[in-house]
Amino acid sequence: MDGNDLVRSVKAVGTVRGLRAVRSALRRRRTDARGLPARGPERARVPGQVRAAEPRPGGGLVRFARAELEVRVTVGGAVFLGWDGAGPEPSYALAGPAPEPDARAVLEPDTDDGWRVVSERVTVAVSRHGAVEVRTPGGVVLRRELPPRWWEPVEGGPGRWALRSELAADARVFGLGGRAAGPRLRDGVYRLWNTDPGGAFAPGDDPLYITMPVQLVVADGGTHLAFYDNTWDGRVRLREGVEGAGSGHDRPGHSELRMEGGPVRCWVVTGTPARVLRGWAALTGAPAVPPSWALGPQHARWGFGSESEVRRVVAGYREHGLPLSALHLDIDHYDAHQVFTVDRESFPDLPRLAKDLAEDGVRLVSIVDPAVKARRGNAVYEGGLAAGAFVRDARGEEVRGVVWPGECVYPDFTDAGAREWWGGLYQERLDQGFAGVWHDMNEPVSFAAFGDPTLPRSARHALEGRGGDHREAHNVYGLAMARAGYEGLRRLRPDDRPFLFSRSGWAGMQRYGGTWSGDVATGWPGLRASLALVLGLGLCGVPYSGPDVGGFTGSPSPELYLRWFQLASRLPFFRTHSALRAGRREPWEFGPDVLEHARGALVERERLRPYFMTLAQLARLTGAPYVRPVWWGGPGDRALRDCEDAFLLGDALLVAPVFEPGAVRRAVRLPRGRWYDAATGEPHEGPGQVVLDAPLSRIPVLARAGSVIPVRGERGEVELEVWAPVAGRTGGGIVVRDAGDGWGTPKVERFTTRLARGRVVVERVTAEGTTRELGYPVRVRGGVQ
Ligand code: GLC
Repeated sequence: MDGNDLVRSVKAVGTVRGLRAVRSALRRRRTDARGLPARGPERARVPGQVRAAEPRPGGGLVRFARAELEVRVTVGGAVFLGWDGAGPEPSYALAGPAPEPDARAVLEPDTDDGWRVVSERVTVAVSRHGAVEVRTPGGVVLRRELPPRWWEPVEGGPGRWALRSELAADARVFGLGGRAAGPRLRDGVYRLWNTDPGGAFAPGDDPLYITMPVQLVVADGGTHLAFYDNTWDGRVRLREGVEGAGSGHDRPGHSELRMEGGPVRCWVVTGTPARVLRGWAALTGAPAVPPSWALGPQHARWGFGSESEVRRVVAGYREHGLPLSALHLDIDHYDAHQVFTVDRESFPDLPRLAKDLAEDGVRLVSIVDPAVKARRGNAVYEGGLAAGAFVRDARGEEVRGVVWPGECVYPDFTDAGAREWWGGLYQERLDQGFAGVWHDMNEPVSFAAFGDPTLPRSARHALEGRGGDHREAHNVYGLAMARAGYEGLRRLRPDDRPFLFSRSGWAGMQRYGGTWSGDVATGWPGLRASLALVLGLGLCGVPYSGPDVGGFTGSPSPELYLRWFQLASRLPFFRTHSALRAGRREPWEFGPDVLEHARGALVERERLRPYFMTLAQLARLTGAPYVRPVWWGGPGDRALRDCEDAFLLGDALLVAPVFEPGAVRRAVRLPRGRWYDAATGEPHEGPGQVVLDAPLSRIPVLARAGSVIPVRGERGEVELEVWAPVAGRTGGGIVVRDAGDGWGTPKVERFTTRLARGRVVVERVTAEGTTRELGYPVRVRGGVQ
């Protein structure tokens, strides 16, 4: 660091915090200098020639001169590849024990001295040098992994490694967690290290808060997901392939993974996108279903500053006749920014406030930061000390960092005891009247004037008793915090489904809750990034998320605010939020037109609530995200794979937000089939592109012919909106009714639609057949052609 860095950081965060950030960064560097071994001489290794292979359940073990590989096909079809003794466990990603090996998978000799494992859904071929091909039963190669390369310290200890994979020339890669530049991940390097970008981020900023070694790859030959179950720091270099490159030959796509340590192991799940996500949820857990109110509109801001301001905002929603489901309190309601405390001067009686808001149907949600102010007399600090819950360094001393309250310590969420202690603290939040929690700053953040704004890499962690350091624990810190919070809430309120969302996380975080975009910069690029994040995370198995409507920073123009509002009203998590010094985000602050159009979006959101609940429940049952890329239906129109400005909401709706200032029309690429403009009822035939009106009052939404959508009728009852099917084709839909906000079994109903003599027929599928007794009023839309 030089003097300029110092001046810049002090300017950026204020004098006191700036100086603390300098001190903290220096301290982190010192701790690591002491606690981390210097990188000494390394020895490079590749597997070498194949020697032998022996069958193992689900596949076999292939031995090479200098390495060994286990190939295991599991029940359900997911393939596990583990080098050098790496098994599926222990794993932070897996929801439970790894699935059983598929007893029918067989190991056979392959050509050229290689081996292959053949199973019903997938074939895995291992070459004599250790390249691994994952093929469809028809022989199409979905992914070809070249032999891994290791660089291991001569002195012993964790080694670095690299793995290069080839993909089809037409393949597109998605995922890697939440990436602002997505959803399609273009050529470039993507880091795997959860990071608070500081300030606000725009599409060029990478990495962000949630990184995951998860790739969802789509190609003509099929879809697959590859997951390198390794929590260490790493980098993925992607290069898309080119069809007919050079002398007419395809150039395959490439993905190269370089990891700083940890096991070389990978899961591959193949099939249609729906199958792949189902398989992924089977491995890493079903997405938690939020309580129904968390599917409604929510409002937050950093800096309400007082109870009266909160009441004013909620009254504003009421007076303007706008629905509101929840209001979020940020760190300014804490006493001196300390977690699990309340500033009693500004918020003298939170339980009372919560009760009053509940009368208007508004829940209170609380921010929860992991860092605990290291101050004697702070009850949370004292309690954590007594529980031995805080992260320590190699010498056994508390690791300190700097966050909002100043000098802080960090619970070690990779320790079961620390999780249990922390989970118990949520009682205080419940007593204050909060109905949900918002985990923040859990990458984890320690403000730093230079270098990485997190804990020293040498900081020690329990890692479930195995012991290790922050290099391995960093990326799962937010995930493990989510587990602590979720399990705590379940213990404290066993009858309620917890509402929890977390800024940071890792593969499997959906088991505990959702996430949000984090501090997306206000501006049209930020609007695009908002959708990219939601789509990308959904393909990594995390279906519940959404952006800060209007962006986190500054003041959006009325038009930008409105377009953000309209987009977010069709995303699972629909919340306005902004930074301390940012402009207002209440819908009535942008003039009467915006107010009217925002009202339209809110009314439509409320009407679609039964559909959102159905999608939440289907996400739990099938792993399918609510928000899907337009290519979700499978290969077909290739241009759909490159479409990044529209999405499917469930099976039935295609949403085409407006991402450009001044636009009042936009082109929309349609998947196959008939699609009705939901506003005008006009039919359009896909595949192909249409240009649709997008006046300020709405963004284009299309409904798939034949679909059945549960909506809220005028009197609040559920009714079925049925879009006329195409003659000669059937349609249908699933409706899942929630059994309250607890754990009751939801009711799953299936409907079919068809045309008979020009009339739309809707039937409910029962165990015995079909019935026209639907149990719901029906409203048919879309002219019958
Ligand atoms: C972080 C969060 C943001 C929050 C702020 C203050 O920047 O991402 O949402 O408002 O911290 O708590």
